[in-house]
Amino acid sequence: MNILGIETSCDETAAAVVADGRRVRSNVVATQIALHRAHGGVVPELAARGHVTAIIPVIEAAMGEAGIGRTSIDAVAVTVGPGLAGALLVGMNVAKALAYAWRLPLVPVNHLEAHLYANWLVEPEPGLAPTPPPELPAICLLVSGGHTELIVIEDHGRYRTLGRTLDDAAGEAFDKGARLLGLGYPGGPAIQDAAAGGEPERFTLPRAWLGGSDDFSFSGLKTALLRLVAPYRLPDPPRRGDDGPFPAHRPPVLLPGTPVADLAAGFQAAIVDVLATKLARAAVREGAKTVLLAGGVAANRALRERVGAVVAREAGDLPVRVPPLSLCTDNAAMIAGAAFYALRRGEQVGWEAEVSPRLPLTESVDGRR
Ligand code: KG4
Ligand code: ZN
Repeated sequence: MNILGIETSCDETAAAVVADGRRVRSNVVATQIALHRAHGGVVPELAARGHVTAIIPVIEAAMGEAGIGRTSIDAVAVTVGPGLAGALLVGMNVAKALAYAWRLPLVPVNHLEAHLYANWLVEPEPGLAPTPPPELPAICLLVSGGHTELIVIEDHGRYRTLGRTLDDAAGEAFDKGARLLGLGYPGGPAIQDAAAGGEPERFTLPRAWLGGSDDFSFSGLKTALLRLVAPYRLPDPPRRGDDGPFPAHRPPVLLPGTPVADLAAGFQAAIVDVLATKLARAAVREGAKTVLLAGGVAANRALRERVGAVVAREAGDLPVRVPPLSLCTDNAAMIAGAAFYALRRGEQVGWEAEVSPRLPLTESVDGRR
């Protein structure tokens, strides 16, 4: 079964074709990073406009790359939430139009659930047998720009959230930390690069363990970084008031000799330490058979290495799986993958379907779960 997936929940316009929930036949992502960079973060109105211009060429490219015509598509899947309302609406309306014109089922997909399903996807290599799917129950750390959640996947469509962030998401923490250090946007890759030659032990940065809880908190860490950077920071120049409706981001001016690499390394280590340790402990406690990472922050090299090391220490040979980098950050292959299992459970919606910007993971997208 071939499913066309469409994703427009934030700042990536994406379309993909996936066979049987696993085999990626095409995966096209048009990023809007350049559009938002000048503002230091995603501007919702600009994101929605960007999706409008990109969506049709992106879908055409995904169909072309898959090498199949529309008669070989069996369903159209689309992200209904969580995400930016205006951005979600673009994908939803295009998906409705295609499903209507092609007389296909329209499958609503939760963006968070889709991130988990990136772990089921395989990019086929000729001559190689595909890896088996993750064994369940699995535990997954979902870390993205908007979410930090520790989830038990009991079975397809059955999730239990053990903990989540009480304030900033892990990716948001990376993005805000990068801004304080005058690094680029998005912050995660910028901090990762800046940290490469740094000494993580040089500065003491706090880790919020929150007792034995499975929740997370990163706002204290951000404040600690702000305090450490303050002595190196020159006063901000006054704004001229000619920014127009979307104010430009002015990076802080830091003195020459600011220890950016050491600060970035210490900041990254503090985030990664808490994430990896809480994940490994919960995996042992919950009797998980597989440990999974998902979401944009799962692209972080230090996190991948630390999770591997801590799980090996705490849980022996428990398998750890991480999607390839291109499937960690937002994409539509994960939407089409998750939709295969949702459609098997009979989840589909009609033309009255609406987007759901604040949809949580455990709530069904068609009201049945
Ligand atoms: O999953 P995603 O593409 O979008 C959301 O659903 O939020 O995640 C984007 C987030 C951003 O905050 C970005 O800074 C972070 O993922 N990210 C990283 C890395 N690559 C992307 N964070 C740390 N290290 C990375 N290499
Ligand atoms: Zn995402």
